[in-house]
Amino acid sequence: MLESLRGKRMLFVGDSLNRGQFVSIVCLLHQHIPENAKSMETFGSLTVFTAKDYNARIEYYWAPFLLESNADDAIVHRITDRVVRKGSINKHGKKWRGADIIVFNTYLWWMTGMPFKILQKGSFKDEVKDIVEESTEDAYRMTMKSMVRWLKKNMDSNKSRVFFTSMSPSHYKSMDWGGEADRNCYNETKMIEDARYWGSDCSKNVMQVIREVFSKSEVAITFLNITQLSSYRKDAHTSIYKKQWNPLTPEQLADPVSYADCTHWCLPGLQDTWNELLFAKLFYP
Ligand SMILES: *[C@@H]1O[C@H](CO)[C@@H](O)[C@H](O)[C@H]1NC(C)=O
Ligand SMILES: *[C@@H]1O[C@H](CO)[C@@H](O)[C@H](O)[C@H]1NC(C)=O
Ligand SMILES: *[C@@H]1O[C@H](CO)[C@@H](O)[C@H](O)[C@H]1NC(C)=O
Repeated sequence: MLESLRGKRMLFVGDSLNRGQFVSIVCLLHQHIPENAKSMETFGSLTVFTAKDYNARIEYYWAPFLLESNADDAIVHRITDRVVRKGSINKHGKKWRGADIIVFNTYLWWMTGMPFKILQKGSFKDEVKDIVEESTEDAYRMTMKSMVRWLKKNMDSNKSRVFFTSMSPSHYKSMDWGGEADRNCYNETKMIEDARYWGSDCSKNVMQVIREVFSKSEVAITFLNITQLSSYRKDAHTSIYKKQWNPLTPEQLADPVSYADCTHWCLPGLQDTWNELLFAKLFYP
């Protein structure tokens, strides 16, 4: 992998799940690089890992909606009333130019506001904002089309590769896999055995939108369809074993189900498999 990244810039763009995939690949690679030949630095929304002897960079750029939104601050983004600005892909896109390999994702943040709020024109600073509500599918389709148009304009498909990682499943509703009510991934230690299992939080409509938009794309986009294989892994989330940003209350501590994170994944773990798929597709397009 390092050899194939020689002289190149690989960029992950998206939400915290894509950051997890970035961290996974950095963990897999950095152990083979001596201490003085690597670095990791953060500049606002951009985190850059450098393998000096290979003149290779692996980067992560925070853009949970790909388009400009009111949740773009890399640290302060816990905003419940989310708004995305139509036609704004260049706001972030100008930082992606020149990448040799781009890996996109976007999904989770679209699933919170329904209907979804779109800033039609103008900027977030305008006093009076022209905001319309759209279905999640329509808002998502608009964004996928923007991304494809941006790729056509900005990426040389002879020299670069584009990947898109499908939605990462969460495990908050144990009823989905026949568990008890009011439970989630907390204390789950086995994967789901039913090969047809599909969680209620993974929208088949959004998957359909992806299929439609990508089938018309003139730029080749390699689709990393990790949804099904990850759906089985109710046991692989960070659960209660993650960094807590706010101290836990005694009530929370008494009820671990209430604060288990069933969205993100432990590392080493599942996301290393996503990167093995990425690696295979990079070598054998
Ligand atoms: C990509 O390569 C093909 C075949 O070598 C060539 O015809 C085409 O002009 C190239 N496109 C660009 C944008 O360089
Ligand atoms: C966790 O799972 C184990 C094994 O299934 C069970 O014995 C234990 O009671 C569970 N703990 C909680 C707090 O649910
Ligand atoms: C991804 O895989 C799932 C399950 O295998 C399938 O249902 C879905 O259609 C695939 N998505 C696309 C866009 O091909």
